[in-house]
Amino acid sequence: MTWRGWQVVDGEKPRSTRAVLREFDEPPGTGDVVVDVGYSSINYKDGLALMGRPGVIRRTPLVAGIDLVGTVVNSDTAEWPAGTRVLVNGWGIGEEYDGGLVERVRVREEWLVRVPDVFTSAQAAAIGTAGFTAMLGVLAIEERAATAGPEGRVLVTGASGGVGSIAVAILARCGYAVTASTGRRAEHDYLRRLGATEVIDRHELSDEVGRPLQSTRWIAAIDAVGGPTLANVLAQTEYGGVVAACGLADTADLPATVMPFILRGITLAGINSVYCPSADRLVAWERLAADLDPGLLDGLTETVPLAEAQTVAARILDGGVRGRTVVDVTH
Ligand SMILES: NC(=O)c1ccc[n+]([C@@H]2O[C@H](COP(=O)([O-])OP(=O)(O)OC[C@H]3O[C@@H](n4cnc5c(N)ncnc54)[C@H](OP(=O)(O)O)[C@@H]3O)[C@@H](O)[C@H]2O)c1
Repeated sequence: MTWRGWQVVDGEKPRSTRAVLREFDEPPGTGDVVVDVGYSSINYKDGLALMGRPGVIRRTPLVAGIDLVGTVVNSDTAEWPAGTRVLVNGWGIGEEYDGGLVERVRVREEWLVRVPDVFTSAQAAAIGTAGFTAMLGVLAIEERAATAGPEGRVLVTGASGGVGSIAVAILARCGYAVTASTGRRAEHDYLRRLGATEVIDRHELSDEVGRPLQSTRWIAAIDAVGGPTLANVLAQTEYGGVVAACGLADTADLPATVMPFILRGITLAGINSVYCPSADRLVAWERLAADLDPGLLDGLTETVPLAEAQTVAARILDGGVRGRTVVDVTH
């Protein structure tokens, strides 16, 4: 028996890489638990890996895919018997360990989370790292300050992307008045359907860095963009507010001052999904099960077969993917 998967290998030029769809005689991977992968997904990082861009792949050859959802085939431990539905987000898969874009893979038991019963395996993959990260952002907001209510608006930037779409849906379900910032005029209705009460043009935030303290607009924010956008969001957040920074879709730069921190007590909460401790993962997945409407999730998800993963990778790097793309690894 053989298993198909996307493997990143050395390219022709020094230090270049490229991804190839190939067959494996043995399941690739690291660890004692063998999983039949049903679904993976395409995050921005997977786009970079599959398109031979630097910044994600730490070694070659390496199976791409920072997410997987599947069924345990066998393991050495009673805690993960054959047949258990499991998921892995991050922990370095698809970056330094073989990842989820393959039909069968070995993983470490400490990486595993049980798929919540309310979600199908495809829905758990639709959530993936993007949705898990969005929920970590919501938890950071709740932990430090903001309470839900129509008076206080919460901003989501990069709103029609994977993290942004799921953040809008969760925040709206939790009772926040959500403002979605997007560069795509055509997606305003989509964002309102997810629960945004207001949609703004991203250029309002990204074109130039304004004054260090501006008129306040948000009690909290989840930012997937970085750069001038994040600097302006910090300067527009109310006293005691929280800004959860999770992405760099524009740039890794942060052209900001300390003024929002020292004069308004703003918290800049860093979000890292990859090495998030297991206990926090369980909390986040429990909250996803409670606060993410599976119907809305289906509406923001497209599904493609394994062979089309690279086509979607090219589109996500061009900013052309709305919401989430699940890869059906079995087709
Ligand atoms: N910290 C973590 O653990 C973690 C986890 C997951 C993702 N991330 C990061 O979070 C970011 C979003 O990930 P994703 O999977 O949601 O990617 P995605 O689906 O490509 O979404 C990114 C969105 O950002 C907006 N955008 C793109 N280029 C932009 C630019 N130049 N200026 C302003 N906005 C821009 C677009 O939204 P609009 O078209 O609506 O404007 C785009 O849809 C990425 O940087 C990713 O690496 C971090």
